[in-house]
Amino acid sequence: MKDFREMKRRGERITALTAYDYPTARLLDESGIDIILVGDSVGMVVLGYEDTTLVTLEEMLHHTRAAARGVKNALLVADLPIHTFDTPEQALATARRFVDAGAQAVKLEGGTSHVPQIEAITRAGIPFMAHIGMLPQNVREEGGYKVKGRTQSEAQSLIADALAVEKAGAFSVVLEIVQAETAKQITKALSIPTIGIGSGEHCDGQILVTHDLIGLFPWFTPKFVSPEARVADEIRRATRAFIERTRNGSALSNIQS
Ligand code: KIV
Repeated sequence: MKDFREMKRRGERITALTAYDYPTARLLDESGIDIILVGDSVGMVVLGYEDTTLVTLEEMLHHTRAAARGVKNALLVADLPIHTFDTPEQALATARRFVDAGAQAVKLEGGTSHVPQIEAITRAGIPFMAHIGMLPQNVREEGGYKVKGRTQSEAQSLIADALAVEKAGAFSVVLEIVQAETAKQITKALSIPTIGIGSGEHCDGQILVTHDLIGLFPWFTPKFVSPEARVADEIRRATRAFIERTRNGSALSNIQS
């Protein structure tokens, strides 16, 4: 495992993307990404659920096994899905199942409220990535994906969360949709790196859902993402070309030879 604290100290930015299958994980790994996350975002961008709250442990383990087969150099982190870490004992048992599936580290959503779960995982020697700010597993209670850390009291409570997860042994912390100035303050307050998603430029690294980065989920793109490719358009183009050449008979020579 790379020394992510040392990267922070040197001012070297950390790069992270999601993958849920073998080819994507292998392509990201071969491209030199530092961290690959098997995120529970798989529920939305691959499985077609409305949000991440329907993702099951078995689904996450299945995708973790597939991604693990494609990774040689990056750190493979897996997300603990909702209600698989309600107690410290359950969190540790779930984390162990991900390690058995090929993950090298695990992540769960929560700050101060989840310190006992985080400590159970880190004390067992399993590397742990924290996740604070907007927590997608709470989207139903919160009524949407809202920016966190806008008010003084929200900023203070996020800083307290960040310090608590660092103390509990996290090696890094994802800051999701945190107001940029608050993300900067958290980044300064910690010795572990912050990995931002929609949280401005002052984090020690950045993470994105790969489908957003490459334009593979064209029906919704978060405001903070600038896609680098339009893979959905390419799929549509190739599909139409195949339909066309099959219908007019020009594909037959390919099929026979
Ligand atoms: O599930 C996921 O992809 C995540 C990232 C958005 C950080 O948790």
